[in-house]
Amino acid sequence: MKHVLSCEQYTRESLEELYNLADDIANNPEKYKNVLADKIIATMFFEPSTRTRLSFETAILKLGAKLISTENAASNSSSRKGESIEDTINVVQQYADAIVMRHSDDHAAEKAAKIAKVPILNAGSGKGEHPTQALLDVYTIRKHKGKIDGLKVAILGDLMYGRTIHSLIKLLSLYNNIEIYGLSKKEFALPGKYVDMLNERKVKYTVCHSFDDIPTDVDVMYHTRIQSERFEGDFGKEEFIINKEVLNNFSKDTLVLHPLPRLEEISTDIDDDPRALYFEQAANGVPIRMSLFLKAFEIK
Ligand code: CP
Repeated sequence: MKHVLSCEQYTRESLEELYNLADDIANNPEKYKNVLADKIIATMFFEPSTRTRLSFETAILKLGAKLISTENAASNSSSRKGESIEDTINVVQQYADAIVMRHSDDHAAEKAAKIAKVPILNAGSGKGEHPTQALLDVYTIRKHKGKIDGLKVAILGDLMYGRTIHSLIKLLSLYNNIEIYGLSKKEFALPGKYVDMLNERKVKYTVCHSFDDIPTDVDVMYHTRIQSERFEGDFGKEEFIINKEVLNNFSKDTLVLHPLPRLEEISTDIDDDPRALYFEQAANGVPIRMSLFLKAFEIK
């Protein structure tokens, strides 16, 4: 049994294994059609989701497993009556062979895993981590760049509360000679603990104040939405918007990624640009999450 709790649990080798499996699944879908026919998998989303939930559920169905789900678990499950995460997991595991969970608590996945006898897959935990998103993000970058070592990656938007950012930089830090450039409004700067982590892992981190501070040959620009649901007050809209005019200042090989949903931070006028990969990212969620189930059940 293998949980997916945090990007801390991965190594370069385990990522390579996962990505090779995802490639095989994408190239040979017939081979994997019924491999989980004897499994029931539960999805419990205590926060809204489109991509993560539906791609997990697509992965479940493509592997031949059966799905049980609570839509909007925050209001439709017994957590609304005050049931703890631990008790909810203890009950759901009586029915399901694995549990996919998204929760507003930064430590929800660890709390669940502590008592779970079935695999827990973290589909986003508060402002902490979104490991399966980062796994598909790096998979998408690897597909297009052929490698991760030596890449320059700009992270933009909400570096403070953006769990996809926190997970992504953990995965990137596994590779050699990575340079990361952070561009955000000052209220949404990368928290010190993550800057310290990057320093400790010998990843060069540069705080940027405008697009001009990002090298024009940066390999990836990874933008994110301001996570207004995670803080009190109004810090206004995103200042740093990637549109056609901005993107034209960067290399023809600069990829644009975003976990979605987007607000104003990426203009729709670049959607047809071959460098804009955010919809492909969403598609890559399926083979990655299929691979994660196979690993969770130790089938591969
Ligand atoms: N990327 C992501 O987590 O999207 P959803 O919130 O729609 O699942």
